[in-house]
Amino acid sequence: MLTLRAMHPRPPPRRAVLFAAAVVLCAADVIHAQPPRSESSPAARPVPQSATPQSYEPALVEAGRARFGANCGFCHGPDATGGSGGTDLTRSEIVATDERGNRIGPVVRTGRIEAGMPAFPTLSESDLTAIVAFVHDQKAKAEAAVGGRRSVEVEDVLTGDAQAGRRYFESACSSCHSATGDLAGIASRIEGLALLRRMLYPGGQAGGGRRPTATVTTRDGETVAGEVTYRDEFTLAVVDGAGRYRSWPTDRVRFTIDDPLEAHVAQLPRYTDEAMHDVLAYLHTLR
Ligand code: HEC
Ligand code: HEC
Repeated sequence: MLTLRAMHPRPPPRRAVLFAAAVVLCAADVIHAQPPRSESSPAARPVPQSATPQSYEPALVEAGRARFGANCGFCHGPDATGGSGGTDLTRSEIVATDERGNRIGPVVRTGRIEAGMPAFPTLSESDLTAIVAFVHDQKAKAEAAVGGRRSVEVEDVLTGDAQAGRRYFESACSSCHSATGDLAGIASRIEGLALLRRMLYPGGQAGGGRRPTATVTTRDGETVAGEVTYRDEFTLAVVDGAGRYRSWPTDRVRFTIDDPLEAHVAQLPRYTDEAMHDVLAYLHTLR
């Protein structure tokens, strides 16, 4: 186990409590939720295709290279393909299904303490954005290196246990979905990584519905309502009715979110990799 002090030499003091809370929460989560994983040679694993190909400004990618080198390169290698103890991010399904940081961000913010990945709760939003840009750029290069935009075989992502996935589905999803109702035959319409992505972010689809809105009350008693542009457990940002961008640390304001896909946002940090693959395997049986 790595010492966290070494990873965070100078945490700003006022965030120390938050940091400690994140560590405790995360450690508890890992202990209770993550069974041991099977080992497989990282190099033998295919480079999964990005579910949503993304391009970023070269300047942002370059800024990200430096930030990545300073914060992540020690473990994930300076080029993100793996280093001392950290995984090859170009082969990561989290990265493959990430869209502009929505999956990478939570991993970075909360870490996976037990597995040796520290939390970075104080990394600035702009540094995180640059790091995400760099990781996607490295991933695009890795995809190109293995022969262009090859498609991922369905079997590559079908490593889960459908029976376990069914049990998970019945406890966590059946209040809104039904295998014989709205999700009947879903695997005949969409499969593999695309289905994984839809299951994680149904709202991210083109033309997919309205965006969530938030009503925020600040400590001064000001009320701001607007469309949510960014949200994680530490930060909430909206564009208000006048088109103005506003953001707050989530622990400084009271807010309510109106989001038809709220359950899916809340579900993301709850999935272990294993549960995610189990549920995917189960959804694949719905044909
Ligand atoms: C002290 C070493 C260390 C540092 C520093 C570190 N990581 Fe990690 N990271 C790991 C380990 C180990 C894992 C694998 C955890 C597991 O198996 O669940 C991991 C997992 C991840 C994953 C999930 C990969 C997957 O598919 O499960 C992402 C994304 C990630 N790291 C990004 C980052 C970024 C971005 C940074 C810098 C801000 C960073 N890491 C810094 C060690 C580190
Ligand atoms: C509180 C309600 C709620 C819960 C709980 C919930 N979802 Fe959803 N889910 C939705 C809504 C709303 C949509 C969007 C429906 C649409 O676009 O027609 C959706 C969409 C989906 C889709 C895409 C369906 C399609 O036809 O494209 C999948 C797959 C899915 N959810 C899987 C799950 C899984 C797996 C779980 C449990 C881990 C879960 N959902 C839990 C509300 C929920």
